[in-house]
Amino acid sequence: MALWGGRFQGGSSDMFRQVNDSLSFDQIMAAQDIRGSIIWSRAIASTGVLSTDEQQQLEAALNELLVKAEAGELDFAASEEEDIHAFVEAALTEKLGDIGRKLHTGRSRNDQVATDFRLWVREHCEQLLGDLWNVRASLSSVAERFKTVILPGYTHLQRAQPVRFPHWCLAYVEMFKRDISRLEDLIARMNQCPLGSGALAGTVYPVDRQHIAEQLGFISPCLNSLDAVSDRDYVLELLFCASTSMMHLSRMAEDMIFFNSGEAGFIRLGDNVTSGSSLMPQKKNPDALELMRGKCGRVFGSLQALLVTMKGLPLAYNKDMQEDKEGAFDAVNQWHICLSIACEVIDSVQMDAERCAKAAKEGYANATELADYLVAKGIPFRTAHDISGQVVLAALEQKKPIEDLSLQELKQFSSDIEDDVYEVLQLEYLVDKRNVLGGTGISPVTAALQNEISAVEAWKQGQ
Ligand code: ARG
Repeated sequence: MALWGGRFQGGSSDMFRQVNDSLSFDQIMAAQDIRGSIIWSRAIASTGVLSTDEQQQLEAALNELLVKAEAGELDFAASEEEDIHAFVEAALTEKLGDIGRKLHTGRSRNDQVATDFRLWVREHCEQLLGDLWNVRASLSSVAERFKTVILPGYTHLQRAQPVRFPHWCLAYVEMFKRDISRLEDLIARMNQCPLGSGALAGTVYPVDRQHIAEQLGFISPCLNSLDAVSDRDYVLELLFCASTSMMHLSRMAEDMIFFNSGEAGFIRLGDNVTSGSSLMPQKKNPDALELMRGKCGRVFGSLQALLVTMKGLPLAYNKDMQEDKEGAFDAVNQWHICLSIACEVIDSVQMDAERCAKAAKEGYANATELADYLVAKGIPFRTAHDISGQVVLAALEQKKPIEDLSLQELKQFSSDIEDDVYEVLQLEYLVDKRNVLGGTGISPVTAALQNEISAVEAWKQGQ
């Protein structure tokens, strides 16, 4: 039965039901709706609207529904109700008759849906925090597994300077750390309870809103009833968090797709996260990574969609706001799936250290080191730069790296070049000279990885 039939003489059209009803998707908030209702029944009982006995009957029936909701046993498909709020009320009324019909006293679906959705968002933020930590755990463990690997670092997708593999991993860790802190900020900011705001103006029943808020795990009540029922900033922020983090996942996926390509051949992905071609038997495609990249479209789209939905809305609640949910549910689900598959992909990685080193050595990344070597022998940098450039040219002609030229050949460019030059030209040498904090040298990278492993360990302990 509709929640609002009294002033209507005609029924809703089928098409109206199609555009208006939300049970098909807001059923996902059943548990939150029931928990909010339990607290609301206590709140209004304390004002004398329900007797102790009535409240206890309501709470018992709601708890039964909660058990069913959590077990996935509520039969939404058979229901004619418009939304989850109507569904829960109908179930109560069916069981308790008039007592069920008392629950909505002083409450509106406007403050109810705002409360349910905040509860849902907050719970999913907690789950997503765990997902993000899991990705950090996978990244630090693959970094540890292949900690000695050096591979090319790129700018403009041109080989630029070699980096240690853990340095690459830890770059993404920094991004996921920011994603975590953004979610934590969101939780702290949205942790206010709308319940008790009524339809828009507050409620006439003298409920204790601070107590309501605390019982639902909020820090405090929302301070303005108009804002409380019409604010969806927390959904937008969640979608922004999801979008930014998906962008990070996508960039990581893009790097790995390239690393996994036949051209680079730095990494190999596990059979468990790749698929074959229906036509070409030799193919092993990085589909999981491509989907991490591809799913960005719908997540970014949901952020954009809700921004547009909200922009022209007058205070307070408007039905447009029912459009806040499907995009957010989908974005959270996709983000969760992508974070989870990211762990499996990372855990499956095998590396070809030799190919990485070979690629890192190609491209004359050590030409600057040769110039610096000559500077140390007292040659002005501009001259040293010039000599090193000539050496590169000669090596290019012979299709060799600089370090494959003989001492005799090198001496033709400068008599100051001695046997000790070969150490300077080594890959490890030039990587490890980048010893500054945040650099790719062995000591800053080892320290950073150690910190990250400890952070992950501490997080696991706290679980
Ligand atoms: N299903 C609605 C939503 O999700 C619930 C609020 C309805 N409020 C109203 N006044 N019609 O937004």
